[in-house]
Amino acid sequence: MEQDLYPPSAETLEGARIKSYDEVSKRAAADPEDYWAREASELEWFEPWTQVLDWQPPFAQWFLGARCNIVHNCLDRHLKTWRRNKLALIWESETGEHRNFSYFALHREVTRFANVLKSLGARKGDRITVYMPRIPEQLIAILACARIGAIHSVIFGGFSVDALHERIMDAESRLVITADGGFMNEKVVPLKEMVDQAVRKSPSVEAVLVVRRVTQQRPDLKIPMEQGRDFWYDELAALPIATRPCPCEPMDSEDPLFILYTSGTTGRPKGILHVHGGYMVGAYSTFKNVFDIRDEDRYWCTADAGWVTGHTYIVYAPFLTGATQVMYEGAPSFPYPDRWWSIISRLGVNILYSTPTAIRGLMRYGEAWPDRHDLSSLRLLGSVGEPINPEAWRWFHRVIGKERCPIMDTWWQTETGSFMISPLPCVALKPGTATRPLPGIDMDVVDEHGNPVPQGQDGYLVIRKPWPSMLRTLYKNPDLYKQVYWSKVPGVYTTGDSARKDEDGYIWVVGRMDDVIKVSGYRLGTAEVESALVSHPAVAEAACIGLPHEVKGNSIKAFVVLREGHEAGPELEDELRDHVGTHLSKIARPDAIEIVDKLPKTRSGKIMRRLLKAKELGQPIGDTSTLED
Ligand code: PRX
Repeated sequence: MEQDLYPPSAETLEGARIKSYDEVSKRAAADPEDYWAREASELEWFEPWTQVLDWQPPFAQWFLGARCNIVHNCLDRHLKTWRRNKLALIWESETGEHRNFSYFALHREVTRFANVLKSLGARKGDRITVYMPRIPEQLIAILACARIGAIHSVIFGGFSVDALHERIMDAESRLVITADGGFMNEKVVPLKEMVDQAVRKSPSVEAVLVVRRVTQQRPDLKIPMEQGRDFWYDELAALPIATRPCPCEPMDSEDPLFILYTSGTTGRPKGILHVHGGYMVGAYSTFKNVFDIRDEDRYWCTADAGWVTGHTYIVYAPFLTGATQVMYEGAPSFPYPDRWWSIISRLGVNILYSTPTAIRGLMRYGEAWPDRHDLSSLRLLGSVGEPINPEAWRWFHRVIGKERCPIMDTWWQTETGSFMISPLPCVALKPGTATRPLPGIDMDVVDEHGNPVPQGQDGYLVIRKPWPSMLRTLYKNPDLYKQVYWSKVPGVYTTGDSARKDEDGYIWVVGRMDDVIKVSGYRLGTAEVESALVSHPAVAEAACIGLPHEVKGNSIKAFVVLREGHEAGPELEDELRDHVGTHLSKIARPDAIEIVDKLPKTRSGKIMRRLLKAKELGQPIGDTSTLED
């Protein structure tokens, strides 16, 4: 439909770094290694590579023999230029205070943090768990880990004790970095308390480093500190050793940078492993080309650094390109639902990168809230995390972007490290699709044998060739890496998404094909939620499904079989919901719980969630030949 195509405006096209998608894509497809090597050579390397790619399927190595450190390119590189005094970070607290950092200042703070980590015995290769609220030290801590060559494992502050414990244990972290708490909607999130509970059961942890946040404002709060294990960051940072020079650790380009746990089909979270060199190139190149970042821009990604979006497009990519970014501590509707629009107008944000769920949530409050603010600084918008429904797309485009700002709908995954399918500003947009794969990315929609499916038909969304920022493996589990990503369709990486292609080659993501539920764009495994439920003494068995939800995209419905002696009722349902909230995450709390006598299972005992879902949605239940009875 003609009205569904949004070609770039003359102004957008004129300013765009890449003017023709077809031209660059063709060049990249003809020689992907050359394409990526050119992108990589815009960054600084301590030693050059001798080989661009070594591909032993399904294991790739990029920029072999090169030495680098991603933090050198984020910070140190800019200190030699005029960007030394450019603002790197503008932080706004929920109550409206600001803390601003130039590149010089951010470098100084990261160096100081790195020295403190070293003073606690942290070394190259150590795993460090970071569990922080949205304050500048969240980014500073992560960059400090990378600076000294330690491997960070960031756990989103919305995860609770058991999730934190499980991830600390898997990574065998020696050090945990946290804060005395965080602020969200004026309430204190007791992060240190949760770390205490998680660390009590984690023998690998030798020290807990605590950044002050809530006690600055609420000195009445008492934060128990365990002698010999817990250290206040500000006390160590005040010691003379903290101000010593601390050069970036020279890393092999294939040395691990971070582990980020994400959900999949198994009950246990998978540790996605990324490395310094290739990840740096992917983050830098995609950010530069898709957001068309300019030196005078102010960029704002509303995600949390605890998710992959925050890793790549808050902690690393903006600094790799020398950009100025905005970071906001608190809730979008605090104190009123115009907080984001107020931030954009007060701070002059040019690029806003957000999620469909947030857009739908703010949409509900009506247009009067954004209309009270001058949003004319905006030039470009972005979306990530789940398919954006055309209605939300159009609202974002019209009400926020004033029909001037193109929307970059970016499709990617924790595993891919950086954008894979996304428009460039020069590409014509269609609401609801991330358009086509970026230059250098070879993707398709195929059947189970790897043959492309006809246009308009659903198939597996796959990636054919390796790319620099791809995950290298699953931490400590290369076999599972092979099995999860490289065994379903021969010879290609399966994303877990189903999709279809239209007449222009645009890719429309249909949804997940596995047991992953996207709630508000957050990735949760049904098995994780089920095991949280089953850890409650009243629950014998549980099965979870995702149901469509107007704001969150999906909500969770849980079917629960009770143990003998427990009574069904609203009280128990509330208790179960809270139980999931405290043990796994508030995001994972089921919206609905139904107590049942029995769950539908295959003869081999596997729960048939598909049947529960079909029944719930009033759809045909399909093949039931494997049903137990
Ligand atoms: O299903 C796709 C969906 O999010 C999944 C990846 O989730 P996660 O690893 O948590 O990363 C989210 C942030 C990069 C994908 O397999 N997804 C992500 N972005 C989009 C999307 N689905 C449709 N359109 C998108 N733009």
